[in-house]
Amino acid sequence: MAMGDLTQLAERARNVLKENDLGTSTKPAPSLYPHQWNWDSCFIAIGISRYDPARAAVEILSLLRGQWANGLVPQIVFSPEGSGYFPGPDVWQCHRSPDAPQDVETSGITQPPVLATAARRVFERFSDEGNGTAFLDDVFPKILSYHRFLYRDRDPDQSGLIAVVHPWESGLDNSPPYLDAGSRVHMTYKPKYERLDLLHVAAENRPTNKDYDLFVFLLEQMRAVSWDQAAYLKIAPLAVEDVLFNSILCRANDDLAAIAALVEEDSSEIEGWNRRTRQAINDKLWDPERRTYYSYDRVSNRLLRDDTIAGLHTLWGGVATEERAYPMIDSWLTPDRFWPDGYPVPTTSVASPYYNPENYWLGPTWVNTNWMVSQGLDTYGRPDLAQIIRSRTLDMVSREGFREYYHPQTGEGFGTNSFSWSAALTLDWLPEMGVKLAP
Ligand code: SER
Repeated sequence: MAMGDLTQLAERARNVLKENDLGTSTKPAPSLYPHQWNWDSCFIAIGISRYDPARAAVEILSLLRGQWANGLVPQIVFSPEGSGYFPGPDVWQCHRSPDAPQDVETSGITQPPVLATAARRVFERFSDEGNGTAFLDDVFPKILSYHRFLYRDRDPDQSGLIAVVHPWESGLDNSPPYLDAGSRVHMTYKPKYERLDLLHVAAENRPTNKDYDLFVFLLEQMRAVSWDQAAYLKIAPLAVEDVLFNSILCRANDDLAAIAALVEEDSSEIEGWNRRTRQAINDKLWDPERRTYYSYDRVSNRLLRDDTIAGLHTLWGGVATEERAYPMIDSWLTPDRFWPDGYPVPTTSVASPYYNPENYWLGPTWVNTNWMVSQGLDTYGRPDLAQIIRSRTLDMVSREGFREYYHPQTGEGFGTNSFSWSAALTLDWLPEMGVKLAP
């Protein structure tokens, strides 16, 4: 793309973030997602930090307002002005837990832990070191307490692998491993609720009603134990040691250890976790025959061998050993799986029986997964592939706008318009292409 087009793309991206700005946080999209979401805000902060690190720091601090006393950083921090999202605070009823914050309403689950990575990036972009260090001093104990929550309540047997107990926690809601594990959940009743997402996006692009039954049923199971996370894990009908979540956590542990050094705190606890998680992913989640990593179902005690983009995040996490990474890249980034003609990388393999190029996480290409996978490829010595992913993604967003997800073969955009992380991560990429972003 010509420099003029890239500069114009930056303008358009900044306008999306301005449009979705709620003051101290940014909603993921104008009406489909009218509150603050955890990993969305982390990606948003990374993008904004390219031109306004102070506002990016506020985004993270605003997310941390929702932190629970047990350390959990919630998937959603509800905004009092936001309306029209199901399930809202009245459904979650998090006040049932003594750990939930009093002055702000949140959901009772978490999301992939990009937080430490985002905080470190924001710090690095402060030109005034004093402001950057003050920010880190503030967030370090909070993020440490978040990671402690994960290792205490979601890995009670200290295996090194954190268990995700709701598909929404995985970030990839209706991804095949969750449909697979979800199909074995015995729902003792059919939950009653009314979906609101379909007022904004066509049903064929969203999870099904059956998927929503599972989402709401699991929410109600957790609510029934008053959001007691440790107690719930013992009875959870869905518990997945998710490869994307744990790989993101490894990178976050690296970043948290670096933050500890910057604020002159001890990092040995974090380094211990990190060694354990890396080792466990390699010991338990690697499938030597299929040459990739899969998530593990703690309930049925087996690998969920569904071919999704999740395994490729072991590159982003620096988890895959070189002897595994190269065969994985060679055998998975192929035209018949994750590298179709068009706009790789689809989130579900084009060969999967679940593949649907127009439905949410069942195939479409997303900007955030491309951003993570391409950086992973860069660090594993494949800048050629990383560069193709970046330029194809930028072509796609430039042509279709900042959509939520895109058809991996045609590039057609789906889901909501004006999607914040598509804009934010575009902004994170553009300076690498020579675009200057004015403060
Ligand atoms: N992605 C979820 C939704 O679609 C929330 O995390 O509502």
